[in-house]
Amino acid sequence: MSEDASAKKEIAAVKGTRDILPGEVEKWQALEGLARATFELYGFRELRAPVFENTELFEKGTGATSDVVTKEMYTFTDKGGRSLTLRPEYTPSVVRAIIEHRLDLEGAPMRYYYMGPMFRYDKPQKGRYRQFHQVDIEVFGEKDAAVDAEIIEMAHALLGKLGVKATETLVNSVGCRACRPAYSAALRVAAGKRKAELCVDCQRKAETNPLRIFDCKVEACREVARSFPSIQDFLCDECRAHFQELRACLDVLKIRYRVDPRLVRGLDYYTKTTFEIVSSGLGAQNALLGGGRYDDMMKDFGGPDICGTGFAMGIERVLSVAELAPPQKKILYIAYLGDEAKREALELARFFRSNGIECLVEYKDRGMKAHFGRANKLQAAWVLIIGENELKSGRFGLKDMASGRQLEGTRDDLLATLLES
Ligand code: HAM
Repeated sequence: MSEDASAKKEIAAVKGTRDILPGEVEKWQALEGLARATFELYGFRELRAPVFENTELFEKGTGATSDVVTKEMYTFTDKGGRSLTLRPEYTPSVVRAIIEHRLDLEGAPMRYYYMGPMFRYDKPQKGRYRQFHQVDIEVFGEKDAAVDAEIIEMAHALLGKLGVKATETLVNSVGCRACRPAYSAALRVAAGKRKAELCVDCQRKAETNPLRIFDCKVEACREVARSFPSIQDFLCDECRAHFQELRACLDVLKIRYRVDPRLVRGLDYYTKTTFEIVSSGLGAQNALLGGGRYDDMMKDFGGPDICGTGFAMGIERVLSVAELAPPQKKILYIAYLGDEAKREALELARFFRSNGIECLVEYKDRGMKAHFGRANKLQAAWVLIIGENELKSGRFGLKDMASGRQLEGTRDDLLATLLES
């Protein structure tokens, strides 16, 4: 490789990460704005936690047998010798923050949302990145399945505002600590019978946590997993009643769904409800969002015994199927000739911006023709002209670029015109 080429490679974005540039970022902003507005309607407030945490938080929370923890974490030792991890998901961080700040004692609804980057070391492909972004919501302290139904409905409301069509909602119950051991035992037996057909990883999972075989992407393992018993046949009375209530609540909200007994989700903490909303417009990575209930995490962290439920939506995946039209900008371009007019342009731009007009001046020595060429290129809605005469009279020319109409007036006259347009 030439010196030039290797220098270029060194400064390129890291594999699995990407820049979000102007032109695309407006869609991100629109999504973030709609997400905030939607969540606030349901009583959620933003909670911002750090990008990295003690590794142990995810080992304990996300789960030591999950693929995320065993294969995908960005873990490093810092200069103080601590093992830290770039968060692969957000849920354990929220639970930690609640315990640390005793948010449960505040009396406010324990409903939190957040948007930001997450990090997982997996093979990058369409819809799968190493730095990706999630919109995450979590609710604490409400056991009733009605709240699970409500957040699924909230997800639908948001996807609707984002213009996402052709989705399918999958729901399941993964039971609880009372009923899951019997299911895991049955899975272990079923997996044991077909061990030879499983990949090495799944042979290990058959011993450690057979539920995790459902997460395997190897087709042969998926085929074997299709023959496994269904968790629906192992639910205890409490979990069965909870799942029935979830279904009844989804019916009330007119949310169409399909029960998928294989939907165990890739993280170890789920209890009872699990759900995903998938898109038919995406390839292999078709989950737009996923979530569920995790009633034991807080007490397992040594905090109060408070249940939780929530979901996270992948921003990249949602944007790839969203139909968003960010608002058209109306830019006022100020064209000036000469040094004195430049200073007037500086002040006029301040004046218009302080009155809410988006205004652009480029401080470059240009002739009038070049100014208009540039304004056209930037798709400016208006051009304001400052030359010698305008400086003397305090009256400026304003051209409407779409119609070609020319106006003239003081800065206050022109402001009135701009605000009306
Ligand atoms: P998750 O299913 O691991 O759940 O991730 C949620 C969503 O994040 C996925 O449905 C997908 O849209 C997106 N996503 C995940 N990994 C990637 C990736 N490598 N590249 C692009 N997008 C990705 C969780 O993270 C749980 N914390 C959700 C939750 C919240 N459960 C309860 N509360």
